[in-house]
Amino acid sequence: MDYKKLYKEKLTTACEAVKHIPSNCRVVTGHATGEPTVIVDAMVENYLQYENVEIVHLVAMGNCGYTRPEMKGHLRHNALFVGAGTREAVHDGRADFTPTFFYQVPRLFKTKLPVDVAIIQVSPPDENGNCSFGVSCDFTKPAADLAKIVIAQVNDQMPMTYGDNFINIKDIDFIVEVSKPLIELPSPVIGDVEKAIGEYCASLIEDGSTLQLGIGAIPDAVLLFLKDKKDLGIHSEMFSDGIVDLYSSGAVNNSKKTLHPGKMIVTFLMGSKKLYDFVNNNPVVELYPVDYVNDPLTIMKNNKMVSINSALQVDLMGQVCAEAIGLKQFSGVGGQVDYIRGVSMAEDGKAIIAMPSTAAKGKLSRIVPFLDHGSCVTTSRNDVEYIVTEYGIANLRGKSLKQRAKELISIAHPDFKDELAKEYKERFKESL
Ligand code: COA
Repeated sequence: MDYKKLYKEKLTTACEAVKHIPSNCRVVTGHATGEPTVIVDAMVENYLQYENVEIVHLVAMGNCGYTRPEMKGHLRHNALFVGAGTREAVHDGRADFTPTFFYQVPRLFKTKLPVDVAIIQVSPPDENGNCSFGVSCDFTKPAADLAKIVIAQVNDQMPMTYGDNFINIKDIDFIVEVSKPLIELPSPVIGDVEKAIGEYCASLIEDGSTLQLGIGAIPDAVLLFLKDKKDLGIHSEMFSDGIVDLYSSGAVNNSKKTLHPGKMIVTFLMGSKKLYDFVNNNPVVELYPVDYVNDPLTIMKNNKMVSINSALQVDLMGQVCAEAIGLKQFSGVGGQVDYIRGVSMAEDGKAIIAMPSTAAKGKLSRIVPFLDHGSCVTTSRNDVEYIVTEYGIANLRGKSLKQRAKELISIAHPDFKDELAKEYKERFKESL
């Protein structure tokens, strides 16, 4: 096949490409830093040409113009994870939220939420016409595989990454060429609280462990304390810049991994240009769809697997809320439970929830007698294992309700301990 000819035949502009999106359909857009922003923005500009088009994705990092009030009747967002750009729209009723485990998103696209159009961003094709999904394989590749129409933003600044992470141009309907830096994740601010949490988490990580780390100040703080560890490996939903340094220093070498030894396995990547340059054409890093990487049955094949995720509140029974503040949807379950369940089945696994002991600049305790009214359980008390704050480590697995409450109060902020002790006395008919 003459791929160069085929490529040219499919080339068009963003404005022309979005004219092929029909009304009354479901559009899935590429994820997080892989968002095909030029085509998404062109769709928003042309919103008057559509009726009843549903826009589905998880982490949104672009303009999120489809959530603006004037989109009513034309474009409506259905969020499978809520982020800064979509939170108010979901809260105000201009967008919807659908709860789902991350690893089950491709299954939803096969069953309950069929995909009409996939708007994706990929690297330029190789000599065989294969484009890489670059930083975002996750649900984006499965959506493109299932969609009736695929519109691709081909960006020469999208890294070429390996794994089950390619689409051939014969499977793309419209190609829009751009040369645009990818969205970058700002570096988090790591303060004393995060450092203390990072040090406690690192104390639970043995040499030869395989790690899953989320986004933000706490995972980055953990990495600061892993410099002297040996033979660490990565099997994670995502990773960011911090892993590049640990790989360069040799602390991460993936040599003891029991699944995909020698490789870092992820489903998406979020960071700065430093990360994107590191993963470009780097056979050590492989991306696979999220229904493989985050499937608990895949995760469990990694011995000594350690997951580190965060939370907004933990109640005295160990129920974790990581996604809502009262009725307000703040984020979503993401991959938190995928990993906690996978890790709990892995040989010598450890599932850690790490969070500052307080929120709202110290005004609220995150360890609470009851989750906020209207809030939801993200990780159940049956699944939870370690909770870490800047005051220490609580290990809840196999502990009674009374023992859990005692352990959790011991790592609460001192300002809230009396109040929690009062609740303990009332609940368990004895003093702490
Ligand atoms: N009441 C009121 N405000 C609260 C609150 C509460 N109970 N709990 C937190 N807040 C505030 C915080 O103070 C903060 O506001 P501020 O920045 O003005 O101080 C804001 O809400 C966000 O809280 P924070 O804990 O800083 O959020 P984060 O950005 O660190 O994200 C999670 C934490 C839990 C929301 C995030 O990790 C998440 O979405 N987890 C679920 C998904 C997941 O685990 N995925 C797997 C790995 S990617």
